[in-house]
Amino acid sequence: MTTDTELQTIELGDIGGEIRILDQTLLPFQVEHRTLASWEEAAEAIKVMRVRGAPLIGATAACGMALAIRSDPSDAAMFKAADGLRKTRPTAVNLQWAVERCLSILACTKPEHRLEVAWKEAALIIAEDKAANRAIGEYGVPLIKALAEPLGGEPVRILTHCNAGWLATTHLGTATAPIYLAHAQGIPVHVLVDETRPRSQGAALTAWELERAGVPCDVIADNAGGLLMQRGEVHMVITGADRVAANGDVCNKIGTYLKALAARESGVPFCVSVPTSTIDPAMADGFGIPIEDRGPDEVLHATGLDPEGTVRTIRTAAEGVSALNPAFDITPAGMVTTLITERGLIKPQHAGHIVG
Ligand code: MRU
Repeated sequence: MTTDTELQTIELGDIGGEIRILDQTLLPFQVEHRTLASWEEAAEAIKVMRVRGAPLIGATAACGMALAIRSDPSDAAMFKAADGLRKTRPTAVNLQWAVERCLSILACTKPEHRLEVAWKEAALIIAEDKAANRAIGEYGVPLIKALAEPLGGEPVRILTHCNAGWLATTHLGTATAPIYLAHAQGIPVHVLVDETRPRSQGAALTAWELERAGVPCDVIADNAGGLLMQRGEVHMVITGADRVAANGDVCNKIGTYLKALAARESGVPFCVSVPTSTIDPAMADGFGIPIEDRGPDEVLHATGLDPEGTVRTIRTAAEGVSALNPAFDITPAGMVTTLITERGLIKPQHAGHIVG
């Protein structure tokens, strides 16, 4: 099954050809693609979040390396691009992982052969992500199926945070992969989509993609999850992650930790879906992970469609008010029931052992 055959988050043409992205800053109101003409444009797309979500950031960084080689295959240009791409966003480890992976193979390739090698490596990273999405889905479905059995045809109610859907990857998503496959198999599911302020990736992106795929869902305010869990109206939580430390601590979009606390209190399973490229074996625990600080503007403003159909950004707090905007938080490993990876279901505490 696919989610949206006509849309791809990133498309890599033939060697030296076109690279296109779906511009997520315009969703859900406009569906537009952009061509990335240089590594600088790939870096800009990551930085301003035209592409976002850990696996897609990694794939775009690999494409950025391919674009850098296309314009200049020298060592100097290659290392400059790698450096520029690495600096775009600090938290998702897939970015560093993809740049290092490309560099390690390119550094031992003669400049005249680098274009083909860089393009093929980017294509391989994308292909591996697609396969990982599907495998995560297949390993995750039995968890949903087990919850469905006692419900007698009522839907399994799954809460998710931020966007760990196909928009965050190259195929079925991570958190959404088991959901899409369960839905395709006729297992009734109903997704509770955290709005995910300040950038509203849940309302703007996750709800949009679930709706297009015909998966029943409701957007909920970020503060509603606790009540719904207390009432028994959430059967499981599935999120993605930007980085998982070796000890299994999970770094994901701000607000994930509060959902994990509520889930623990109410006995709701808290699962995190990740490709192994999101596990950082060099990071001993989650508290060493750099947390992106995105500045106050996103918190003090909201963007949406006005009644005339124009997208507008408006200020929601009084002039002069200041704001804090840490973009990610850490959920300790002990609060995570299961990591759903492309290599199987694992205890978060074993994260560091399955990679590196
Ligand atoms: O700031 P974003 O939109 O890049 O944050 C994305 C998330 O936090 C996702 O949950 C995470 O990257 C997992 S994506 C499969």
